Amino acid sequence: MEIHRYEKIWTAAALLLIVGLIATVTYGAVGPGVKMVDDSGGTIDSGSLDETEFADPGVTRTGENQYEVHVIARQFLFQPGTTSPIRVPANSEVTFYIVSADVVHGFELAGTNVNTMVVPGQVTKVSVQFDEPAEYGIVCHEYCGSGHHTMAGQLVVVP
Ligand code: CUA
Repeated sequence: MEIHRYEKIWTAAALLLIVGLIATVTYGAVGPGVKMVDDSGGTIDSGSLDETEFADPGVTRTGENQYEVHVIARQFLFQPGTTSPIRVPANSEVTFYIVSADVVHGFELAGTNVNTMVVPGQVTKVSVQFDEPAEYGIVCHEYCGSGHHTMAGQLVVVP
C-alpha cells in the first residue's frame, strides 16, 4: 500500500519535470521576445556579395537625419570599421545592414544596446539613434577562428 503511494508521487514528479523541460525549451525557441537573429533584413548569398548592395559597403545618406551603413564581417575584420572607422553624424538615425562573407560573427557596438549575431546567408538589420558625438568600439563576440580576438573596429559619431 505505502509503496504504491510513493510510486504515484514520484511518477507525478517525473512527469512534471518532463513537461517543465519541454515548456522551457519551447519558450526558449519560440517564446515572445525571444529572437536569436533579426531576420527582417532578409537573406543573401554570402558567396556573391559583389553582386549586391554590399559590393561597395559603407555609409549612405538616405534622409535628412537618416543613414544606412552596409558592413561586411569577415575573418577577421569589419569592412568598413576595422581598417577605417565608420563615420556618421550626431543627431542621426542609423540603420546597419550587416552580412558575413564566411562564418558566424558577432556585431556589438560597445556602450550601446546593439549586440547581434551575423549569420552567413542572413542580412542582419539593426537601427540606432546617435544623439551625441562619441566613439564606439565594434566587437566580434562570436568565436570565428584563430583571429577572433583581433576582430574589432570603430564607429565615430562626428559633431
Ligand atoms: Cu568574427 Cu569573432
